[in-house]
Amino acid sequence: MALRNILKDSDPALRKKSRPVTDFNKRLWELLDDMRETMLDANGSGLAAPQVGILRRAFLVAAPAAHESEAEAEPLTEDEEYDEEIMELINPEILEVNGEQTGLEGCLSLPGVWGIVTRPMRVKVRAQDRFGNYFEAEGEGLTARAICHELGHLDGQLFTDVADRILDGKELEELVAGREEKKDAE
Ligand code: NI
Repeated sequence: MALRNILKDSDPALRKKSRPVTDFNKRLWELLDDMRETMLDANGSGLAAPQVGILRRAFLVAAPAAHESEAEAEPLTEDEEYDEEIMELINPEILEVNGEQTGLEGCLSLPGVWGIVTRPMRVKVRAQDRFGNYFEAEGEGLTARAICHELGHLDGQLFTDVADRILDGKELEELVAGREEKKDAE
């Protein structure tokens, strides 16, 4: 496994539409393993393949019990727990969205930028795993937010495109002060 470079800011690859994954082979598994390591290293809660320059429809999300619809998701505290709960979604499609939530969002590709974004409260997706098997998963709250955010990346969308607003300098300072201990970007 190896850390991959996360593309940032105005990198044109972040604006491209990614193509479906067609080969579920060792090369894909290496990519996913590298993405996992890269995401954990950057303290992210999600990472899409185009963010590491691979324009394919695949992403990871930190998803506590994401396969269960009414998950009583416990906050993740330890890195080990975190690692176990990373879900891989390949060629994902949204089947259903419900409700609405408005909250804070950031992105590993936009360091230092935070915004308020309205997303569905629950999403149901159909995707393939790293072997090409189809599965359905449901996400709620932060997981739903992360899934929508990462899906955006697959179509060249950044959260700043859909944000209600972007935090200003003073709000950012307060946020950084409150987050010194635990970073939580997507
Ligand atoms: Ni992002």
